[in-house]
Amino acid sequence: MLQFKITDSEFNSFRSFIYDHAGINLSDEKKTLVTSRLSKRLRHYSFNTFQEYFDLVVASAQDGERQTAIDLLTTNETYFFREPKHFEFLEKEILANLKNRKTFRVWSAASSTGEEAYSIAMLLDAMLGLKPWEIFASDISSRVLRKARQGHYLQNRIDGIPKEFLRKYCLKGVGDNEGTLLIDKKLRQKVSFEPVNLKRPLGDIGLFEVIFLRNVLIYFDLETKALIIKQLVEKLQPDGYLFIGHSESLKGVHDGLETVIPTVYRKI
Ligand SMILES: C[S@@+](CC[C@H](N)C(=O)[O-])C[C@H]1O[C@@H](n2cnc3c(N)ncnc32)[C@H](O)[C@@H]1O
Repeated sequence: MLQFKITDSEFNSFRSFIYDHAGINLSDEKKTLVTSRLSKRLRHYSFNTFQEYFDLVVASAQDGERQTAIDLLTTNETYFFREPKHFEFLEKEILANLKNRKTFRVWSAASSTGEEAYSIAMLLDAMLGLKPWEIFASDISSRVLRKARQGHYLQNRIDGIPKEFLRKYCLKGVGDNEGTLLIDKKLRQKVSFEPVNLKRPLGDIGLFEVIFLRNVLIYFDLETKALIIKQLVEKLQPDGYLFIGHSESLKGVHDGLETVIPTVYRKI
């Protein structure tokens, strides 16, 4: 198969493109990754250079090749009940002490293919019984959102799901769907997936009791992080909680938040 080489100037063009659109900060080490992810588009269009592909991307509509390039340049790794301590905290410290009866709203703010949002949904359903709740989940990549809405996963991806939740909320595929599982419709109906670019104004999405913003801050520089945290704090209810990934930090950008435990913050 034809191997393409990216020049420094072509790499810099894509680097500026993804920084301007998504805030993602690609280091020089990401050159091989960018080359391998975009090469299939060069083949698709029978282009010889990354410059030709870049020209097409910038000339295309937002929902055309530009979105495809964004989809390819984002990293979407995720899994069910990732970083279990957060789910323990949500269960024992937040849900167990819930007093008021208004709709409990959670935002999975960089949801990728939906495993995080459905993990939260399983816990809310199990803990809240008939109390109202809903989950808003969002991502910049339209490809992962399409997958998330289906709620249909390969069985080898379900390791983190507790056994009783597997029984209660997941339908095992049979026949053509052997080796897959489908998240129960009752849960899927309470989770909505919408495109949101965290770097842009967020619009009217309401306020949330809890926001999960995990494993996405690592891609941003300090300036972008500060902007995003400021916008998210505005979307938290007073006393609402923000969760970030265990390898991430809010050092220097946590205005309006107090630390509860490492990686869990509360709006002051
Ligand atoms: C590694 S996944 C994290 C998924 C999940 N939160 C978790 O912790 O498992 C990071 C996600 O952030 C999304 N993302 C990157 N930049 C974004 C932006 N500016 N706005 C919204 N989502 C973004 C990517 O598309 C990707 O799906």
